[in-house]
Amino acid sequence: MSQVISLLHDKGGCAKTTTCVNLGFALWLLGKKVLLVDTDPQCNLTDTVDKTVHLEAESTIYEWLHDGQGESLPLPIYTRYDGLDYVPGSHSMSNINAELQLMYNREHRLADFLNLIDPETGVRIRDMYDYVFIDCAPGGETLMNTNALVASDFVIVPTEAGIYSLQGLPRLLDYINKVHTQLRCPVTIMGYLLVRWNKNRSISREVKEYYSNEEEVKAPLFPVSVRESVRCTESVAYEMSLFEYASNSPVADDYMRVAEYMIGRKARPKTWTPVRWGQIANSAYNRFIKERSKSVNE
Ligand SMILES: Nc1ncnc2c1ncn2[C@@H]1O[C@H](COP(=O)(O)OP(=O)(O)OP(=O)(O)O)[C@@H](O)[C@H]1O
Ligand SMILES: [Mg+2]
Repeated sequence: MSQVISLLHDKGGCAKTTTCVNLGFALWLLGKKVLLVDTDPQCNLTDTVDKTVHLEAESTIYEWLHDGQGESLPLPIYTRYDGLDYVPGSHSMSNINAELQLMYNREHRLADFLNLIDPETGVRIRDMYDYVFIDCAPGGETLMNTNALVASDFVIVPTEAGIYSLQGLPRLLDYINKVHTQLRCPVTIMGYLLVRWNKNRSISREVKEYYSNEEEVKAPLFPVSVRESVRCTESVAYEMSLFEYASNSPVADDYMRVAEYMIGRKARPKTWTPVRWGQIANSAYNRFIKERSKSVNE
């Protein structure tokens, strides 16, 4: 059974995209089929997964959501590695909330897309994958974010140990509750994931304690907190996940442990080390770059 998971938080810059990329790559390294969907007009996810694509792609998520135009275009699904696909975003997505307003199935466009039958395989798009991650734009209750929630089974809430994240929490819970009750969508919070975690800061420890109270925050806290590392920012500049760029960094290990937790068992083969998964990610990356430069030269 596939799981569709949105990365959502009111607050900007709280590692939604970083989590989408690195959790996606970790699950792929553990043998899962993964689709990453970029719904944010900033296109940060697309830029990390394949910078050239959204400049050239004939079809992106925008054409598909935009009223009627997508159906005549190829499906906007591209492959980074075998088993790791992505749906590129578009800067035109900055218009999508206004455009969705005029559609009568306005909250369901993205769900409809993921429920489409792929003409090649005869399988629903979402069922072609074990995990579909939807990277949401910051800014709370927009029609696009509602589309993401309606299409999702779960939400992961990346949370920084700071006061702004805490202040945004009641709004987020209220939003998800409204989608639940008014649109009758069973989406629930899979968990809060503490990011940029630094155990030496008292605010980090206090925020962790707050989120550990499941009754108060209405959902569990992931048992792994993602530590802070400059490797995150560096890897993006090289269009890489942490596993390709710095597989031995503590943050790569954190995301791998979150992935293992999601799978529900210790999924990492015993012989695997950060060096080994770096080798696998790197050789896939080298093949990808080679293929891409071949297709650019053609
Ligand atoms: N664990 C971490 N340690 C250090 N820096 C991090 C960490 N996680 C993310 N960052 C950095 O924080 C910045 C914001 O991260 P990211 O773009 O993932 O946030 P976002 O929630 O997707 O932002 P937006 O709301 O704009 O879409 C980036 O520069 C990223 O490299
Ligand atoms: Mg982002």
